[in-house]
Amino acid sequence: MTKTYAVIGDPIDHSLSPAIHNAAFAFLGMDCAYIAYKIPKGELKEGLESLKKIQIAGLNVTIPHKVEMMQFLNSADNDCNLIGATNTVVNENGFLKGYNTDLGGFLEPIKKRNLECKDTKVLLVGAGGAARAIVAAFAREKVHKITVANRTKERAQDLIKFANKLGLETEYTDLVSAGNVAGNHNFIVNATSVGMRENACPISTRSINSNCVVYDIVYIPVNTELIVQSKERGATVIYGWEMLLAQAALSFEIWTGRKAPYDAMKLTLLGRF
Ligand SMILES: NC(=O)c1ccc[n+]([C@@H]2O[C@H](COP(=O)([O-])OP(=O)(O)OC[C@H]3O[C@@H](n4cnc5c(N)ncnc54)[C@H](OP(=O)(O)O)[C@@H]3O)[C@@H](O)[C@H]2O)c1
Repeated sequence: MTKTYAVIGDPIDHSLSPAIHNAAFAFLGMDCAYIAYKIPKGELKEGLESLKKIQIAGLNVTIPHKVEMMQFLNSADNDCNLIGATNTVVNENGFLKGYNTDLGGFLEPIKKRNLECKDTKVLLVGAGGAARAIVAAFAREKVHKITVANRTKERAQDLIKFANKLGLETEYTDLVSAGNVAGNHNFIVNATSVGMRENACPISTRSINSNCVVYDIVYIPVNTELIVQSKERGATVIYGWEMLLAQAALSFEIWTGRKAPYDAMKLTLLGRF
């Protein structure tokens, strides 16, 4: 029987996940299909019931359900419990097992470049769901300190509390000051949605220099304004599509137990931009 997988969220129309995963299934000749399934906020329970009826084999979970999905899981791995959110679910005859591949997916491009995180200073711009997984990832890599910059201070403070619990030194800064001090950090990560489908930069890049690694998790366009300006200043850059692809590959491996065909998935993803 064909196994069906889905990404659930809202909005979901422009999700790149079906293209990436269907390319992987086709490349490996697997009898599997991956669909995008819109579940509006407040309708997760009903949406999951429908998916269970069609014996969905696995799910990716995206905005706005990553946190709420936790209460529908029968078991959750350590990363889910740490972050308090899931993005990957396996359905074994109605028993839902949750995983979180955002953490590993975020770190993969850093590791690929052999960049050392231990004892470094991080400027994290943004304090939403993705930022939480990024704090957990940097905590695991034992960075020295995370400075959180966010438009809404209260949300930054919540994230700072979480980082402190994980044993990290922290500081808050506003978005304007973040631009002044960015160059004093080893890693500068944009985890806001600023720059997504628009020509805007979340912070000023004036202090960014060749000692900085600038990681923009926004992936449309590939060359965001932050990436373009950071490259001009000589920084090492990491693109949002790299995290997107890495977390997808990890989900694929959890569902299928097979090594993800990374190059086939990459070709399809980059062809979509
Ligand atoms: N590459 C990947 O694999 C990957 C994975 C996950 C997410 N993402 C991308 O990362 C971004 C954030 O995702 P998320 O799930 O964390 O979303 P989220 O929970 O909604 O958080 C959004 C963040 O963006 C900030 N923000 C939004 N509009 C802003 C504006 N006009 N000016 C300044 N700050 C603004 C918010 O600040 P406030 O707190 O002040 O509202 C918050 O920090 C999205 O673009 C998403 O597509 C990429």
